[in-house]
Amino acid sequence: MKEDKGARWFELECVPKEYIFPTEYRPQNLESPVCDSIPVISLANSKAENGHSQPVEEILKASQELGFFQVINHGIPEKTVTDAMNVLKEFFDMQVKDTTTETVPRKKGYIYTNSTDFAKDGVHLWRENFKHPCHPLEECIHLWPDTPTRYQEVIAAYIVEIQKLSTRILEMICEGLGLEQGYFKDTSEVQFLSSNFYPPCPDPSLTLGILPHVDPSLITILYQGGSTGLQVIKDGQWVNVGAIPNAFVVNIGNQLEIISNWKFKSAKHRVVTSTHETRRSIATFVNPSPNCIIEPAKNLVNELEPTLYKASQNLVNELEPALYKPSQYKEYVLHSNAFGDDTAAIQNGLR
Ligand code: OGA
Ligand code: NI
Repeated sequence: MKEDKGARWFELECVPKEYIFPTEYRPQNLESPVCDSIPVISLANSKAENGHSQPVEEILKASQELGFFQVINHGIPEKTVTDAMNVLKEFFDMQVKDTTTETVPRKKGYIYTNSTDFAKDGVHLWRENFKHPCHPLEECIHLWPDTPTRYQEVIAAYIVEIQKLSTRILEMICEGLGLEQGYFKDTSEVQFLSSNFYPPCPDPSLTLGILPHVDPSLITILYQGGSTGLQVIKDGQWVNVGAIPNAFVVNIGNQLEIISNWKFKSAKHRVVTSTHETRRSIATFVNPSPNCIIEPAKNLVNELEPTLYKASQNLVNELEPALYKPSQYKEYVLHSNAFGDDTAAIQNGLR
């Protein structure tokens, strides 16, 4: 292995052993074509003449069957998104100049982790990650990085748009599930940004960008800038989430799986690496506030009188007993160790 002095950690001819996963974790069949069959839903026609509008029906179906879909014609200005991607690129480019393998100091208000900091059974992920809370915006924003100089302004504008988009999608989900409008107000109050940089890798068959996981959020809105690498489990197979320019990937988080009483699925996903492509992504986790009690929505369970709930307007007809016990969101996050070593710090808003 040749390692140039001053080169970035990933500029290598072979994968260093610290990044090689045991066989059972390694991505298989990377070469075989997997179809990109994630539903792509246009939000343009969200007004219905009779019954539910087309996007509502499509979102319902995708959330029930797969828990993953992409949205296009979402109304978010392209410039807001490209500005955010550019400022995050600048941020990562600034960090990678430091080629030491020491843990990067954790600053209040945000966490940057270089590639050596993530490990599963002692093996590092092939990525760098940067995350911080975004709620309440006016309190968090000053704790975000001030270099690049436009970081705070650009990311705040992005988050405001994501918040509007997620509210719109959640209102459609309310409509589809037959829940009153605004049902998700408290459970979607907190936004948390997590941005990833996955550089090209000399041998993608040995490494992973992110291990298989489900998100601990209500929903997650991800921008992947037309790059590949994200995969989701569909019928027991890993399938690629297609690279569609200017689309957002939406996935159902664990909390919405619970609230929907498992009518919606929170699908397992992962990121594989590429020999030639750099992947950058911005995930925004839309989360409940810490004290929220998360439990199946009362009118989606049949514990009282099933006939009362015969859901005439409800696209989800089968009502079952509650499959989950009520739990406070902060308890859930702590018990599931949702953010690994950073869970407690993140729980406390990184203050
Ligand atoms: C995540 C995630 C995927 C990606 O941050 O939870 O799944 O493409 N990210 O970065
Ligand atoms: Ni995820």
